[in-house]
Amino acid sequence: MRMYDIIAKKRDGGNLTTEEINFFIDGYTDGSIPDYQASALAMAVFFQDMNEEERAALTMAMVNSGDTIDLSDIMGVKVDKHSTGGVGDTTTLVLAPLVASVGVPVAKMSGRGLGHTGGTIDKLEAVPGFHVEITSEEFVNLVNKNKIAVIGQTGNLTPADKKLYGLRDVTATVNSIPLIASSIMSKKIASGADAIVLDVKTGAGAFMKSKAEAEELAKAMVSIGNNVGRQTMAVISDMSQPLGRAIGNALEVKEAINTLQGNGPDDLTELSLTLASQMVVLGGKAETLDEARQLLEENIKNGKAIDKLKEFLSAQGGDESVVDHPENLPKASHTFELEAKQSGYIQEIVADEIGSAAMMLGAGRQTKESEIDLSVGLVLNKKVGDYVEEGESILTLHSNTTDVDSIKEKLYENITISESNLDTPTLVHTIIS
Ligand code: URA
Ligand code: CA
Repeated sequence: MRMYDIIAKKRDGGNLTTEEINFFIDGYTDGSIPDYQASALAMAVFFQDMNEEERAALTMAMVNSGDTIDLSDIMGVKVDKHSTGGVGDTTTLVLAPLVASVGVPVAKMSGRGLGHTGGTIDKLEAVPGFHVEITSEEFVNLVNKNKIAVIGQTGNLTPADKKLYGLRDVTATVNSIPLIASSIMSKKIASGADAIVLDVKTGAGAFMKSKAEAEELAKAMVSIGNNVGRQTMAVISDMSQPLGRAIGNALEVKEAINTLQGNGPDDLTELSLTLASQMVVLGGKAETLDEARQLLEENIKNGKAIDKLKEFLSAQGGDESVVDHPENLPKASHTFELEAKQSGYIQEIVADEIGSAAMMLGAGRQTKESEIDLSVGLVLNKKVGDYVEEGESILTLHSNTTDVDSIKEKLYENITISESNLDTPTLVHTIIS
């Protein structure tokens, strides 16, 4: 087999066989196929697309390029959730204990990564004492006992994806549905998921700006999952404005606590219940999404969801008193209000720009080496569609410096107030199940 022929076949619109895809991924991983041939193939895929069989084969070839996590010692169906990334997305912190409280095992492997705020692990580390440096054995035991545990990334997962994603990034081939879908799905499958729930975001703060693109990506991932024996469902949700009110690590932990107690922001509560219902159905604990939702709502009302959070935090060394006393979470030394310059209705809160402002305060990493400040961030007092009086606070900045003028400037530039009342954006656009 020659890489040249594989490139030419795809260039001319042909369909690659599983053997050809394996030959490419194996050779690219071990270095026998050079970057220039891999980039030519990525560009050919960009223009010629891949059919369902090719997408499934590419996904599994990338899964098999490195280590895979074996969760078979954990009882039950392991359902994982993936979000394509948003601003102030606190859903994982809510979903994990909520879903565990109805008996679906949550075996979460998580990373830190770059972004407007830290990843799930960084957020959880805002709880004093909480740590994810546990052995695989402890991890398995904790999930079997409590139905929930979080561990840091271990092993060399999907090296082919790492290398190919890096190459796509510099060859203008990131934005290809088959390549994105196989990249995301390969990582979820390698980390041991039996079933997968996807939250594909759309809007200013999202990777997929349009609803049509988001839907195409979601359908592509659902079909890959179902073709490789992992039941998969998806939700298309709005990321034109930040999700919930808090953007920042400790601030989001507090928001998750409120939500698990039934006092969370409407949008975060709704999206969490929607995604959690899918997880519960895939986990085999309910027949229908409605039935699942009832179980989940019940556990918020009767306190089982918040109790599960306490149990989870203390099992990994965390101080569970933060649940009843959120003032024990890290706190910034200053708060400042962003006061409305005119009265009217909030028309737009541009998600990605608001996220950048939170990062400027220190809530996220700009480079892998950056230190995160867990205490800082933003809390929205108004959301799109709300009425605000001149001088009233639109949002509160939590900062450890007093020099916030340029950040305030950026915030003003990205929040618009209009005289007319507008419809609030739809939160959940589509459910694919
Ligand atoms: N995120 C991924 O993990 N892979 C892609 O290809 C694009 C976004
Ligand atoms: Ca939030």
